Amino acid sequence: MKDIRVSQPDMPPLDEFLPYLEKIWARRWLTNNGEFHQEFEQAIADYLDVPHVSLVTNGTLALLLAIQALEIKGEVITTPYSFVATPHSLLWNGIEPVFADISAETFSLDVKCVEQAITARTSAILAVHCYGFPSDIDGLRSLSERHGLPLIYDAAHCFGQRTRGQSLLSFGDVSVLSFHATKVFHTFEGGAIISSTPEMKQRVDYLRNFGFAGEIEIVDKGINAKMNEMQAAYGLLQLKYVDRAISHRAQMDALYRESLADVSAVALPSIAALDRHNHSYFPVLIENGRDELYRALKDSGVLCRRYFYPLLSNLDMYRGLASAARDKLPVANRMAEQVLCLPMHAELTASDVQRVVSIIKKELV
Ligand SMILES: Cc1ncc(COP(=O)(O)O)c(C=O)c1O
Repeated sequence: MKDIRVSQPDMPPLDEFLPYLEKIWARRWLTNNGEFHQEFEQAIADYLDVPHVSLVTNGTLALLLAIQALEIKGEVITTPYSFVATPHSLLWNGIEPVFADISAETFSLDVKCVEQAITARTSAILAVHCYGFPSDIDGLRSLSERHGLPLIYDAAHCFGQRTRGQSLLSFGDVSVLSFHATKVFHTFEGGAIISSTPEMKQRVDYLRNFGFAGEIEIVDKGINAKMNEMQAAYGLLQLKYVDRAISHRAQMDALYRESLADVSAVALPSIAALDRHNHSYFPVLIENGRDELYRALKDSGVLCRRYFYPLLSNLDMYRGLASAARDKLPVANRMAEQVLCLPMHAELTASDVQRVVSIIKKELV
């Protein structure tokens, strides 16, 4: 039997990509704000319903540049419950991450814990809309306004997420997306920065291209974070298929929920306050026996993942921080020890879901 992977890239028909390649070959313009890049940047802004989009090479560089654009220094309060790129982006900017605990409802920063962690050195808040579930948007906004702290959202999982009639990416000072191959929408590798003002977009655009403002004018200490024409062309094509992929994921999500409804050992986090959900992940919580189940699934060819375990604050490189102490992060530690992300992708079938569920039932019921 074929392995069922936790995620699998949705890919358009190859023959539909060939005309894009022919254009790239004919134009001999491979990167540096080419025609596909311009077209794709506008198409993404339209699709996501956000005005200021800057395409970049990947989500990690998007985080690095967002932090640079806001000129943040000192300490930044962030979540330990994320992918390692989140705190790494702070280290790469010479900033000390300060971990605060998360809320069991949102899987994102608990506003009370963020407030307690604020010191004179705090310069920003870096929150993650984990699995695309919205953070406490109002709580974080009011805290950031009261303390004058910029609010950055790592929205790597949030392609197309909408809440309260608007894009989830329109909250905070800046949000970043990842278009990595494992994401709902991908360009093999890729990412984007969603700025809240045209001035910030301009700054990010300089930063992603060595600081060039003209042929011989360099206005900032930029880096090379440009998306190339191949990725942009692929993204344009991929965009035509993303709604279909999301609606298939929604069906698989509903099937998991229905099939697992009577399995009391598996808690299904509810989808908070979303007008539109991209179903990028299907996380479940298992209070007892998560690791045994993970291994049983793996032995049967179901390659689920324990995102996000180990908790970042428990990694050797972060555990020495005062904010990483286990007793300060009880909720995040508990969630990391219980979570299991079941396979979820656009090619998952109903029989795959039944196979996963039957192993879970055999192990836990
Ligand atoms: C929460 C989070 N932040 C940042 C990243 C980094 O994105 P990329 O892989 O595109 O660099 C990822 C995933 O890859 C992620 O899941």
